[in-house]
Order: sequence, then structure tokens, then C-alpha cells
Amino acid sequence: MIGYGGDWNPEQWPEETWAEDVALMREAGVNQVSVGIFSWSLVEPVEGRYEFGWLDRVMDLLAAGGVRAFMATPTAAPPPWFGRTYPEALPVDADGRVLFHGSRQGFCPSSPVYRDKALAIVERIGERYRDHPALAMWHVHNEYGCHNSRCYCDASAAAFRGWLVARYGTLDALNEAWGTAFWSQRYSDWGQILPPRATPSFHNPGQQLDFRRFSSDALLDLYRAERDLLAGLAPQVPATTNLMAGAHWDMDYWSFAREVDVVSNDHYLIGKDPHIDLAFAADLSRSLGRGRPWLLMEHSTSAVNWQGVNRAKRPGELRRNSVQHLARGADAIMFFQWRASRAGAEKWHSAMLPHAGTGTKVWREVVGLGGLLKDAAEVAGSTVTSDVAILLDYGSVWAQDHPAQPTTLHKPVEVIKSWHAELWKLGVTCDVVHPESDLSGYRLVLVPALYLVTDHGATNLERFVADGGTVLAGPYSGIADEHDRIRLGGYPGAWRDLLGVTVEEFFPLEEGESVELAGGGIGAVWSELAHATTATVLDTYVTGEPAWTRNEWEGGAAHYLTTLLAGADLARVLGAVCAEAGVPVSATPGVEMVRRAHADGRGYLFVINHSGADVVVAATGVGLSDGDPVDGELTVPAGEVRIVRETR
Ligand code: GLA
Repeated sequence: MIGYGGDWNPEQWPEETWAEDVALMREAGVNQVSVGIFSWSLVEPVEGRYEFGWLDRVMDLLAAGGVRAFMATPTAAPPPWFGRTYPEALPVDADGRVLFHGSRQGFCPSSPVYRDKALAIVERIGERYRDHPALAMWHVHNEYGCHNSRCYCDASAAAFRGWLVARYGTLDALNEAWGTAFWSQRYSDWGQILPPRATPSFHNPGQQLDFRRFSSDALLDLYRAERDLLAGLAPQVPATTNLMAGAHWDMDYWSFAREVDVVSNDHYLIGKDPHIDLAFAADLSRSLGRGRPWLLMEHSTSAVNWQGVNRAKRPGELRRNSVQHLARGADAIMFFQWRASRAGAEKWHSAMLPHAGTGTKVWREVVGLGGLLKDAAEVAGSTVTSDVAILLDYGSVWAQDHPAQPTTLHKPVEVIKSWHAELWKLGVTCDVVHPESDLSGYRLVLVPALYLVTDHGATNLERFVADGGTVLAGPYSGIADEHDRIRLGGYPGAWRDLLGVTVEEFFPLEEGESVELAGGGIGAVWSELAHATTATVLDTYVTGEPAWTRNEWEGGAAHYLTTLLAGADLARVLGAVCAEAGVPVSATPGVEMVRRAHADGRGYLFVINHSGADVVVAATGVGLSDGDPVDGELTVPAGEVRIVRETR
């Protein structure tokens, strides 16, 4: 079964609508919904007084309707009584501003009283619903860190110090790691250490990096506490929390992914090529779960309400987006939210059941998608295999976030996404992996932007190349160690030998400035004075300095770019390294083709035509929805999708 549904918030509606909701869910093919996500103030209207009657009736209706419930813990939105009674638990920003209740996520992640009150309601919910026939999964919290990923209050300061003691053991070790001889920052007592609150000038980079790590860990710790409590009450029920992978960069999702029973992700269209950005988020979600099927916990049927100008989805876009996630490994397609709100801050956010009701484009598409997903039931459990991996480390992104860099125009997430986007256009599906993970299954590893790399990560990449792999690295990668201290002796210190290159100085480019390559390309944002030591120079700036190099290293080879390329220039280099690594490239403009397969070899080809023209692609098998044979060629009409059960 492919899961289908969304967040159901019946508490926003008179009870008379609830039965209609469930009937319409059945009409649309909905088989699972998340409930109770923002219900704390209704379940516990007054501190210590719990009112479960309404939620019992909601769960019973779902059970009777055959719709599975992902029971949420409501801890992402503490009620007004919480902020009034425990003002010390409210989040505080770097400027010392207290953030009051009246919105959501109004709590300090390190607050002991928040933790107590959250665990108290989680325990009640766990006890009450652990044996309910509708219960299929715990949906713990909602989007950890969405609005309160870092808190700078005194409780956070104390917790940060505790985290640092555990990490460094001694103040000497911390002073060494942070380089506190600089600007007279040497600490002589743990109590002197603060979160990076507003200061006259730049923060210590080690302090800011460790605070990002600590803040992510503080949220993860809250997840673990809720999950462990629920697991103690109902060991048979899996737990997840919905991530924002690909869109939100404050949490280290590699650590979160290790702690969930199944990865679930939320994605909203954004950017110039939103469907390509979607593919990145989906590839990352799959990779976070080490390739296992994952759940798309939220996306939108049409417009969101938080982008200023909120573009409505064009006819067919909902279907294409959903099938993209499915193709890239999702075993559930869900939305925020089931019924569009009448009131509240998200009343202008689209939903499965719009304000205008069932006589609408959105509703017709929702019902159509339910049919498609039913036809695709046999896809569930199959996986995607990639020959190519892109390295991603949250710590590296955070370290580079420090404002005192050679240039602030080099934005690692944008660079990583631009490489992924060009691969998408080349028809290459890739994983996104942590630098220290097992790379042996890949032919090609890309390092678009990895400023900081641990010693383990550095040798891991060397071993991959030694064992016959191909690497392409971008500039400003392999520069710093895990404490954000420069690796000395010529850049990029971690991989000078592997790349056969040493860089003596960076020459960042102004906005609009560029370097011309002798081979015809244009580099932007970044240039550098590099010398090939053992590498062969494949292209230079017209002024003669190396632009693209290749170094043979034991069984494999490592390529290096000294500037940022984009579009066709980047595609040319990516195409060359794919060819060298034996990675097939097959591009039909605007058409996305991805494969999933079961361990027993049953495979599926997903073809998504994002273009305005009909296309013909190579495929052999049987159409999943219509059962029609596909004999070598498949026509996919403009804007349409097809899934083929392959016989090859
Ligand atoms: C997030 C939240 C939802 C809702 C949507 C709106 O994903 O989890 O509650 O706010 O955003 O896009």
C-alpha cells in the first residue's frame, strides 16, 4: 500500500463535519491521516486537566472508516497557560528578545519545565491511545526547530556549557579547539561561556559552530525523550518526526534520521525550478534513511501562504509533484492539510478539501491522485539505486555560515543544489550522503561545497578514489578541520595530495564579475591561484591559472574545479566525469525518469513530463494504471506522468 492522506485538524471544525470528512477521505482514497498535531490547548485546556473525549471520537471515526491514524504529540505548540505560568521557558533570541505565546513553537528547547510539561501530556496520550485500533504510528512533535531552532536564554546557556563539558572535558581542550588566544577570548571558568549572543563584532567561529551543534542536539534530545516514553508504553508502534530536509538547515538531519523508525519529510515548492528543488529534497529524504522507503508527511495541493506571492499549482502539477516523490522512494504521499482552515494564520494555505468544496480542480486532482496511488500499491517497499553521491555535512554548512569568510557569495547549499540540478537535467539520479558514510557502492562522488571536513571524512574520500572511484570537488572544500581551524600548508589542506593541487591564494569575484575559461566556460563568485603538483590541467582561466584538473590516485581519479561553474558549463564537466565513471546520462529536456526496484528484481520506471510538449521515451513493460503493454516506446503527453512495470 502507498499511504495517502494529510494532517486532519477536526478540532478546528464543528463536530457535524467530522463524519463528512471521513466519508470524503474514503471517496478520495485516503488511507492515513495525522491527528492532534496542534491540539495541546484543547487536550489540556488548563494545566493538569485533560480532555480527551473529542480526540477519542476522532480516533473512533477513523477506525470505523478504515483510515489509519498517525497520532501526533502536540508539543510543538504549548498553550497560552504555559507561557503565562512559566515565562522562563519562552524562547529568547540572540538580541535578548523574549518571544511570547500567540503563535507556535513558543518554548526554549533546553527548558526543564517545558520538557516536564511536554512529557506529561505525551504520557497521557501514549497511555490513552496505545491500543487504539486506528493507531498506526506516533507522529512526534511537528517540525522540530521550525521556528525556535536556537535559544539564547540562561537555561540554554547552562545546557550549552554542559554539552561543552561533555565534548571537551577540560577548558584547555575547549580553548585550543576554539582558538581563544585570538581577541583575548581565553576562558578560565566554564561559567564565562555564553551562547553567541549579540556582540560588538564577529563571534568566535568555534563557539558559533558548537552552538549550532548543541542547538540541534537539544532538539534531538527532546525527540528522543518523547520517543522513548512512547516506546515504553507501546513498543509495537513505530515513531517518526517530520523533517524539513532540503529546506531547513538548522538541524543535523543525519542525527535525527538515525533515531526515527522511518524518515518522514515535509516539502514545499520553492525557487526558480521548484520541481528540481523538490527532487533534491526527495533524494535527501531517501538518503537520510539510507535508501529505505520514506514518507512524504506534508506537501501542498496548491498554494502555500508564507511566500509573499503564493503561486497556485497549475493543473496537473499536484500529480507530477506527488509522483516525483513516489519515484524517488516515498511510500506515502501526504499533505498539509485535509480541510482548508476557515480561521487562523493558515487559512490561505491550500488543502485537499478547499474552501470551495468538492466541485474544484484541487478536489478532482486529489481524487485522481488517490486512484493513481492505489494502482501503484505494488511499488511500496521498492528502492532507488544510484551510482552517484553528493557529499553533505550540516556542520560544514554551519561553519561556513560564519560571516567572516573570503566571500559571503559562496553559498554552500546553493552550490550543492546547483550541481544536483544539472545532474537532474542530465537524467542522473543521485544520493546525498554524509562524508563519513560508506561510499563503496558509488561510481562517482561529488563534493560541490564541503568547507569543513573531519579527518575521517577526508580519508574516507581518499579510500574511495584509491579503490577505483571518481571524484569531482568544487572550490573551498576540504579547507577546515572539525573545529573550523584551517588545515595548513596550502589549500585545500585535506585533499592536496588526492587532488594533486595546491592553492596559495583565493581571489573571490564581485557580483557580476567572472573568469573566462580557455575551454569556453565562465566561472563566477570564486577564483583562486592553484598550482597542479601531480594533477593534469584540463582547462585554465584565459589568464593561464588552472580551472579544472584531474589527478590519478591509485585505482581512481580526482577532479577539481577552482571556480564555480553553472548551467551548460557545469553540465559539460559533470557529463565528462559521469562518462569517466561509467555513469549513464540520458537527458530528454524537461522529462524526469527515475527507477525503483524490489530486491527480487521487479522494477518500475517513472516518467514525469514537466514540459509543455508530448515526449516519446524508451520503455518496455506494462503501464501500471491502464495495464497496456509498452513495447520499446512510451508516449507521455505534455504535463503527464506514467509508471511502467518494466520487463527488460
Ligand atoms: C509546515 C507545518 C505545517 C504547516 C505548513 C504550511 O510544514 O508542519 O503545520 O504550517 O508548514 O506550509
